[in-house]
Amino acid sequence: MPARRSLLKALAAAPVLSALGAPPAGAADPAAGPSPDRAPGIVKPLPPAYFTVRGTNAESRFETFRDTGRVTPADRFFVRNHTSTPVLDAADWRLTVWGDGLHGRRTSVEIGYGQLRDLPPVTRTALIECAGNGRSLYATQQGEPVSGTPWTLGAVGAAHWRGARLSDVLRLAGIASDAVAVQPRGLDDPYVTGGADLGRVRRPLPVAKALDDVIVAYKMNGEPLPYDHGFPARLVVPDWVGVASVKWLGDIEVSRGPLSSPWSTDFYRFFGEAHPAGGSAPLGPQTLKSAYELPFGASLAAGRTHHLTGRAWSALAPVRAVEVSTDGGGTWRPARIVDRPRSGQWVRWTASWRPTAAGPATLLSRVTDAAGNVQPERAVHNTQGYLFNAVVRHPLTVE
Ligand code: MTE
Repeated sequence: MPARRSLLKALAAAPVLSALGAPPAGAADPAAGPSPDRAPGIVKPLPPAYFTVRGTNAESRFETFRDTGRVTPADRFFVRNHTSTPVLDAADWRLTVWGDGLHGRRTSVEIGYGQLRDLPPVTRTALIECAGNGRSLYATQQGEPVSGTPWTLGAVGAAHWRGARLSDVLRLAGIASDAVAVQPRGLDDPYVTGGADLGRVRRPLPVAKALDDVIVAYKMNGEPLPYDHGFPARLVVPDWVGVASVKWLGDIEVSRGPLSSPWSTDFYRFFGEAHPAGGSAPLGPQTLKSAYELPFGASLAAGRTHHLTGRAWSALAPVRAVEVSTDGGGTWRPARIVDRPRSGQWVRWTASWRPTAAGPATLLSRVTDAAGNVQPERAVHNTQGYLFNAVVRHPLTVE
């Protein structure tokens, strides 16, 4: 078992260099004491200018991405914690790979941090987006009730992730050729909800995806993973719902038969009138979205040209086009795409607008990807508010 230190002890120890190098970025200054820019269970500071705290989670303010590049700095990246960030020590950390899906007579293999770092490194730029990103819009835009953290649009971020391929880790452990599923599990505290202890966060991943493009990351944007983002190692499952990217990775079960957990049976699948009676299949890929980098309810001056900016992304194919409407959806025109569209990444876009009449206005944006997927006018409702993909109606005032 890796050493687990209390958060307070860890905060006090944070500035000390560990045997393995610099402490992760974002550790708190122990002299700072309690302050309004903190949330229970999250280590890094959460300045209100950049984050909205939602229970054990912190949402990035989407509009503040405007002054970031194509990747999101770690200190601006949203945090989704079922419980709280465990502060682990890389020197004691072991990844245990176990289960009947290992070949020969092996039942369990341990891989240390040094061994992980010795595997051929890869760097991938990928978004992590919570399945519930945009959830609150089911209620505010479509008048439909949903349960779960009422994220607006900031439960998403992009980073350069460096680590070992999960396929190399599984081959090192001896995955059998007839294994069908793996189940990574985190080292954070068990998740207790509604009086039931559901155990540690874990979720099955089909072997085909596990061996494809998943990485066991130990660096984020060139620095050791910050504590809140999974130090010392996390999965990054490109294009899939964020819950697949298990943080503080502790063990991976490898199985010759199907696996399940509450995160694939009770949560992270579609329930509701539009879906099969027992729920849909567990969610895999994310969806597509576009949004303006402006606060909801912003005021813009009439009679001046505004250079509006935004982002668009699709987990299904590279972005092909972004259109904007400044008259509530009556007419559309192309936005200018700033970045070269790449699979699994977002693009920044711009559009100028010179409003003339004062009063309330609604801005819309709509992304089309290279596979022909287009944001619909309405998202199909599901009771837990996952995968909101509809065109966002962005309210503002012209003064
Ligand atoms: N892994 C563990 N061990 N515990 C968690 O609570 N949250 C998941 C995933 N991995 C979670 C986890 C969810 S729901 C999301 S959206 C992403 O982590 C968020 O990653 P981030 O906090 O680095 O932004």
